[in-house]
Amino acid sequence: MKVLVLGGAGYIGSHMVTYLKSQNIASVVIDDLSTGFASSLAGAPFYQGDFANQELLQQVFKEHKIDAVMHFAASSQVGESVLQPEKYYSNNVCKTQVLLNIMRQYQVINIVFSSSAAVYGSPKQALINEQHSVTPINPYGRSKLAVEWMLQDSASAYGIKAICLRYFNAAGAAIDASNGERHDPETHLIPLVLQALSGRSHGIKVFGTDYATPDGTCVRDYIHILDIAQAHLCALDWLFEQPTGAFKVFNLGNGTGFSVQQVINIAKEVTGQQLNVKFSARRLGDPAVLVASAEQAKQLLGWQPKYSKLQEIITHAWAWEQNFSGL
Ligand code: UFG
Repeated sequence: MKVLVLGGAGYIGSHMVTYLKSQNIASVVIDDLSTGFASSLAGAPFYQGDFANQELLQQVFKEHKIDAVMHFAASSQVGESVLQPEKYYSNNVCKTQVLLNIMRQYQVINIVFSSSAAVYGSPKQALINEQHSVTPINPYGRSKLAVEWMLQDSASAYGIKAICLRYFNAAGAAIDASNGERHDPETHLIPLVLQALSGRSHGIKVFGTDYATPDGTCVRDYIHILDIAQAHLCALDWLFEQPTGAFKVFNLGNGTGFSVQQVINIAKEVTGQQLNVKFSARRLGDPAVLVASAEQAKQLLGWQPKYSKLQEIITHAWAWEQNFSGL
């Protein structure tokens, strides 16, 4: 089996390639290195370029017998999407349409798509399952939902098979600290908190203290990057057993919410360091609470998260932060 990993130099895609390798599954990577890093590449054949470049895609499909595509390549910052929606519709939606068209030409019918909890918008219940209404409140979420619909319609019309994995908040790092979260600029809470704790930055700003949550700060469900990688392989195994036209969405999360303040407290405990915290205004596009019910992924895909404790996720991210600071 060979998997084409789009965005394989990014945070989630690069961990995926390493995980596939550990399971003796070959992969091929396309990444334009716009947000990913060449140094994160995990040794799979690598094609640098845009995944919607038709010539490049055709070359890859001709040179490799691809059984499935895992699609991680996307713009993924909620705040930025509010200010630059066109970038999100272009990178996330339009380019995926090109990809699907070429996949059809080469009769590659299996795709696992990185979707997001952002499709749910502001939740109507504490624990969100896949039946929850999808009413995204920012362009990022809407772009992910548009791709889900495109995949669903393509499954019905053209017989592709698609799984959308709606991640909640991806976090953590490789156990050996060889790879971890790296964005430039970094916008995510856990790496920013750890950068401040390691002295790489001066402190952390908490965006909003007046949300309708127990301590007023936003609540999120953090999921380990290695559990996300494992879920993708479970998803692929499941997809191969399905008839043509199969389409399904799954949440990936741990079912426990932590507020920004709780994340800061746990990170201080794990690292034993002190932190300069500033409270500031809300960030554009942030829902107050996002917590997953991932029962369906456990039951249908046989997915069993291994690193569901936030302490453990932060411990791994901290080892990566310390490793990274030394690079
Ligand atoms: N936050 C701060 N200070 C910071 C950074 C973040 O207070 O410096 C807060 C945010 O406002 C938010 C929480 O920490 O309340 C988590 O923010 P992240 O940026 O780490 O993650 P998001 O929840 O915004 O987004 C992540 C992914 C999205 C996905 C979303 C779904 O980046 O792609 O999870 O839950 F849509």
